[in-house]
Amino acid sequence: MEKIKLIDEKGKRIDGRGAKDLRPIKIKVHPLNRADGSCYIEWGTNKVIASVYGPKEAQPKHLQDPLRAIVRCNYDMASFSVDERKRPGPDRRSSEISKVIGEALENAVLTNLFPRTMIEVNIEVLEADAGTRCTGLTAAGIALADAGIPMRDIPAACAGGKVDGKIVVDLRKEEDQAGDADLPIAILPRTKEILLMQMDGDLSEKEFYELLDLLADACINISEMQKKALLDRYKQEEDVEEDKETEGKKTENKEIKKEEEE
Ligand code: CDP
Repeated sequence: MEKIKLIDEKGKRIDGRGAKDLRPIKIKVHPLNRADGSCYIEWGTNKVIASVYGPKEAQPKHLQDPLRAIVRCNYDMASFSVDERKRPGPDRRSSEISKVIGEALENAVLTNLFPRTMIEVNIEVLEADAGTRCTGLTAAGIALADAGIPMRDIPAACAGGKVDGKIVVDLRKEEDQAGDADLPIAILPRTKEILLMQMDGDLSEKEFYELLDLLADACINISEMQKKALLDRYKQEEDVEEDKETEGKKTENKEIKKEEEE
């Protein structure tokens, strides 16, 4: 099979990005009204929705931990999300991703505040173009914050790797498939504590640390986008509340004036 050229003479990637550039990211907070918290993300051509329910009493009861909440994650990829139709339902890949994301989130949430409960996180991948576990985890972090669940920090995630011998962040599908290595990580941006790290392929020790530094910086950028999206959403709500209050006061004043005149 002919090897695709992933980086051109000018050092640009197939979509024109430089090594450290992220794909465009759009975040919508609270797109769902019935979940306690939710987030929709478009990251490049990845489209992912995350929802959070809880904390609620852990069921079945034998799962309950008397000292803390448990975080259950279910990552699912829709059958229409990839080029070749995916068989619906869980498989080994989605079970693995659900497990590692659930564990990462459990280490971010202040689980000791909610003994015997369960926090349910659902991640639905509607369109996939590599990096979906990182997109899902980033969305889940926002959905947890949207649900008002206390965390040490909002986790942010990004994958990177090596393509055509060069270290780059945020692989797209062609790079993920034809590249030499893929390293997804999730961190707590404030402390840079690592919550998730997996690796596929080969990197030298020097390349590994070089990529880790780039990914930490990428996660800090993503964290800023997460916070901005949450602030925008709740600022909007605050503004509407303020407008309603001012409107209410105006009507009250008008009524008092009317009464005085009568
Ligand atoms: O999505 P992520 O990079 O976290 O996980 P992956 O297992 O490395 O998958 C990389 C990409 O391969 C996915 O994002 C999909 O675009 C694609 N894929 C696919 O086309 N069909 C599958 N059954 C699984 C993954």
